[in-house]
Amino acid sequence: MSLDRDWWKRAVFYQIYPRSFMDSDGDGVGDLPGIRSRLPYLAALGVDALWISPFFKSPMKDFGYDVADYRDVDPLFGSLDDCRSLVDDAHGLGIRVLLDLVANHTSDEHPWFVEARSSREHPRHGWYLWHPIGRRDPLGRPVPPNNWKSLFELRSAWFENAATDELYLGTFTRHQPELDWRNPEVPAEFAEILRFWFELGIDGFRLDVATAYFKDAELRSNPFSWKPLDLFQRHLYDRNRPEVFGALAELRKAADERGDRVLVGETHGRDPALAAACHGARGEGLHMAFNFEFLFRPWSAKAFRESARAWYAALPEGAWPNFTLSNHDQIRHARRFRKAGFTDARAKVAAAMLLTLRGSPFLYYGEELGMLGAFPRRSDLRDPLGIATWPLRAYGRDPERTPMQWDSSANAGFTEGKPWLPPEPGWRTRNVEAEERDPESVLSFYKALLALRRSRPELALGSLAFVGEDPDLLVYERRGEEGPGKARVLVVLNFASRRRNFTLPSGGSVLLGTHRKAGARILAGSMELSPCEVLLLAVD
Ligand code: GLC
Repeated sequence: MSLDRDWWKRAVFYQIYPRSFMDSDGDGVGDLPGIRSRLPYLAALGVDALWISPFFKSPMKDFGYDVADYRDVDPLFGSLDDCRSLVDDAHGLGIRVLLDLVANHTSDEHPWFVEARSSREHPRHGWYLWHPIGRRDPLGRPVPPNNWKSLFELRSAWFENAATDELYLGTFTRHQPELDWRNPEVPAEFAEILRFWFELGIDGFRLDVATAYFKDAELRSNPFSWKPLDLFQRHLYDRNRPEVFGALAELRKAADERGDRVLVGETHGRDPALAAACHGARGEGLHMAFNFEFLFRPWSAKAFRESARAWYAALPEGAWPNFTLSNHDQIRHARRFRKAGFTDARAKVAAAMLLTLRGSPFLYYGEELGMLGAFPRRSDLRDPLGIATWPLRAYGRDPERTPMQWDSSANAGFTEGKPWLPPEPGWRTRNVEAEERDPESVLSFYKALLALRRSRPELALGSLAFVGEDPDLLVYERRGEEGPGKARVLVVLNFASRRRNFTLPSGGSVLLGTHRKAGARILAGSMELSPCEVLLLAVD
């Protein structure tokens, strides 16, 4: 692909959870040849870049977020050659490919950890975080140095390693030992890993828990918090340490050697200021960082306006925003926002918001169908977090990882075998094949929005000004910075499930709408919006 340094500012990203997208060999788990076979669908949908969750060699204790070899593909997903073919075909269709770099921790089966845990004298030992075992409690268990918690095992994050008489840190499961980023060999190795994949043609990375790389040097205990989802701790010391920004800037240098590669950080937690800080004050940090605050907003125009405003205000000068509503760790937004009779209508309002706000949108596979996901039966649970917290529904992540729904054949056309998770109920009608035939479907609406976004550069790059403060109506104008007409698009989104009056500030013609035909003229002044109406207007 030709060198285009800012492609990611215009791009629409599409996250693929590879286990669940398309299975080519009947083992019930999706794979790289499966993704490759569906590239024409993604090109026709109109997305610009894929982020594929990890497919590196892994014992799959956290389904690939536990890596045992950063330079190879797990046989479950295919081979390095399959990866090359996938990237080549994607590029041929004008689609870029981002991988997922899990650099905070490795698998306990990674040869680095196997060596590190063998002896305190081994040169690899210092790649991980250790604490000598001192006291033991009356049951003989080592007393940990602080109160840090394993998020997926819901116990102390310190695990015993008998060979060295030490504890190692595992913030997720015990199978994901944490690397010591204060050891300069660790960041240097990850810069090399980036270079390896850039050489293969990969266009960038999503960095897993990028703000967790550094822990407090003194291992201080976290203070108490009332938030159950944070396990009743304010995570001051086990993540989000300021030293991380220097490390992110170093990774950025490795990306900049190529000119057009992009790094997107996952911030751990819901703090726009933290996500903003990952960009660096002078653009020396990540290209983008996720602000997850948007994923936790209730269905309300006011709530999203406030959240977007806060995000824009938090970002340093020159930093580029991004927005997302769903990913592989959170209940899908169509389910979060569902309401009898309005579920798909709300999915369309959400899509219009995501694809027209100022900032790169990140879609999650299947959201273009209005996929809801489903809570599996206990015997079908796969996620370690879901198993540890069953029957609580707030934590487990299987519901958002159900197979992509391609057609109405067995298992939604995802596999010819037994799918690793059952597809959500309703897949016989909610699937690509059925929705492609229906001009009113959620899928048809996404396609129309994506096509419009491509044809109207102001929807990607233009400035944004909110109009009004109505609690139900989210209204903003996107204005092109360039070109003779300085094209203007007014976005009007009615979040309410009832009619609402609206005073249109200036007339125009409909570009796209859920209730009005493209090309129809609307005059300035009072108008009535239908429940959950989306209206995109080219302003005169
Ligand atoms: C991130 C990933 C999540 C994974 C965890 C540990 O939060 O998104 O899926 O379990 O990191 O790598």
